[in-house]
Amino acid sequence: MKVSEAIESRMTVRQFLDKPVPLDTIRDLLEISKRAPSGGNLQPWNVHVLTGEPLERLVDDVKDKQDRGVTETPEYNVYPPELVDPYKTRRRIVGQALYDLIGVPREDTPGKLRQLARNYRFFDAPVGLFFVLHRQMEVGQYADVGMFMQNIMLLAREYGLDTCPQEAWARWPKTLKEHLSLADHEITFCGMALGYKDEGAVINKLISDREKFENFVTLHGF
Ligand SMILES: Cc1cc2nc3c(=O)[nH]c(=O)nc-3n(C[C@H](O)[C@H](O)[C@H](O)COP(=O)(O)O)c2cc1C
Repeated sequence: MKVSEAIESRMTVRQFLDKPVPLDTIRDLLEISKRAPSGGNLQPWNVHVLTGEPLERLVDDVKDKQDRGVTETPEYNVYPPELVDPYKTRRRIVGQALYDLIGVPREDTPGKLRQLARNYRFFDAPVGLFFVLHRQMEVGQYADVGMFMQNIMLLAREYGLDTCPQEAWARWPKTLKEHLSLADHEITFCGMALGYKDEGAVINKLISDREKFENFVTLHGF
């Protein structure tokens, strides 16, 4: 597979098949992806990979907490509190497209929350990853971890696998600290569902928009 094919075929998958991913494959994905660049070669990523019972325990714990109305305070803002345009509009458009596709009407808040809650089952993927950093890290190191994550997501395509990066997990920092046995100096930045795409699932038909070249590129000296 060419890099361009991996980039073009990568999409966020939100329904996975009940088909395990072999440990050897996970090892390949992480071993190869670790060639990602990082400022000063800090390699600021620490990865926790869950499957089977540990994954089930986490999923059940979050579900139980949600059923009891328990919430936690996120340790960072996933989005700026006052998101400005055009970003705010882009976010609204992709959200609306997703709900339209799965038939959740605009005013159906419980339906939207049910869909959001599916994040906390990794959309039925057999594998969940968490990307953990030292709290000391700055914006640059978060970008480094993003590049590492992108390597995993692109390489997954070569193995016939798909992914969903998941910042939704930022809502459960205490629960993740317990389940992953994190130290006080560690912060969970992002989750990721990994598995085989359910090709028949309507939700996986969502193709998100991208801006035109002219709208995000400023050429100098051409
Ligand atoms: C860092 C990051 C976190 C994300 N978190 C979530 C998430 O928690 N849940 C979700 O359904 N999608 C999540 N997404 C997926 C985005 O919504 C998706 O990438 C975007 O809409 C573009 O669609 P595409 O990935 O299919 O091209 C996340 C993406 C990134 C890069």
